[in-house]
Amino acid sequence: MPPKLPVPLRDRLGRPLESLRLSVTDRCNLRCLYCMPEEDYVWLPRQELLSFEELVRLVDIFAELGVTRLRLTGGEPLLRHNFDSLVAMLGQNLRITDLAMTTNGVLFADQAEALKRAGLGRVTISLDTLQRERFRQMTRRDEHDRVLSAFDAARRAGFTGTKLDAVIMRGENDDELADLIEFGRKNDAEVRFIEYMDVLGATKWSMAKVVSRDEMLQRLERRHGTIRPAAETSSAPASRFLLPDGTVFGIIASTTSPFCRTCDRSRITADGVWYRCLYATNGTDLRKLLRGASQEAADGEIGNVIAEAWRGREDQGAEERASRNHREAFIGIEELRRDPHLEMHTRGG
Ligand code: GTP
Ligand code: 5AD
Ligand code: SF4
Repeated sequence: MPPKLPVPLRDRLGRPLESLRLSVTDRCNLRCLYCMPEEDYVWLPRQELLSFEELVRLVDIFAELGVTRLRLTGGEPLLRHNFDSLVAMLGQNLRITDLAMTTNGVLFADQAEALKRAGLGRVTISLDTLQRERFRQMTRRDEHDRVLSAFDAARRAGFTGTKLDAVIMRGENDDELADLIEFGRKNDAEVRFIEYMDVLGATKWSMAKVVSRDEMLQRLERRHGTIRPAAETSSAPASRFLLPDGTVFGIIASTTSPFCRTCDRSRITADGVWYRCLYATNGTDLRKLLRGASQEAADGEIGNVIAEAWRGREDQGAEERASRNHREAFIGIEELRRDPHLEMHTRGG
């Protein structure tokens, strides 16, 4: 029996603290156009990365405050050595009822079985194109075959509820909506199209490259016929739809139709800075509390700092961006170089 849940903390807009995204490394083995379009990056110093013990300790503290859903992200989380051991350690926390990861799939096939054994609940694999040459252009790496093999590996290892996330960019992959849905259907993965967001690392972002949810739906209707909304089953950011043949897919419309009002998520970078919004430029340095110079803070004290910050939370980053008349890339490259915490690949997509 999982322990009785604490009353969830609420922020100023009444949003509970329920979902935590833990980035375990800022490194990545791809260079996706929408996330890491630059030639070089400033990385977090290695000695500042949280150890497995520190990550587990933080998750335990957050779980005491009401977090039940944990998603492991990066960068690419499978680049962290012995990642499956971390999963096994985190799986010991009975308050966490949903333990998931987001991966680019390159290293997944080799580790699928170990991850399943370690207790990983579900996996979301990013795949933006079914065309090998296009994949190379969109990610600057020739890893398409390995990513494709991740879906079969997930199924063979016994994962269910696998998702395929595709960021749709005009002129890059917006002609592949139907093909991606078909690939997902054949591979037991629910496809979700993500609107290109003007998040931190997206230095080449422009509104002209965004394909909106409405436009995606129109294009799919032209090809497949009437699309109906699916009955909502979760608080996830994706709105879900049904094709006439019953295939379900989702669209995450963070750019044109933000969902900040129900946002229960926050995120921790691999070096322990806690951000309460994807777009926040200031976070709380939890590593400092874990490793305090004279005396490290007790779990209860760290919990109090977290609780107080959550109660004061007012962030609605995506709504704020959407309300602007003129939109361009959120943060310039110079600023990102000064503080890599502002990068999407550091913050966990
Ligand atoms: P499940 O539905 O539980 O599987 O997870 P999820 O919907 O959170 O999915 P996932 O973690 O794969 O996130 C999908 C995408 O949604 C991300 O890659 C981002 O593009 C977008 N997203 C995730 N978190 C946020 C957020 O806090 N704010 C906004 N605006 N978009 C987000
Ligand atoms: N727009 C939308 N999604 C993004 N991601 C990263 N950068 C962006 C962006 N600019 C998300 C994608 C990817 C995940 C790792 O991070 O969903 O699949
Ligand atoms: Fe691509 Fe994810 Fe790596 Fe960013 S972190 S470059 S989205 S694979």
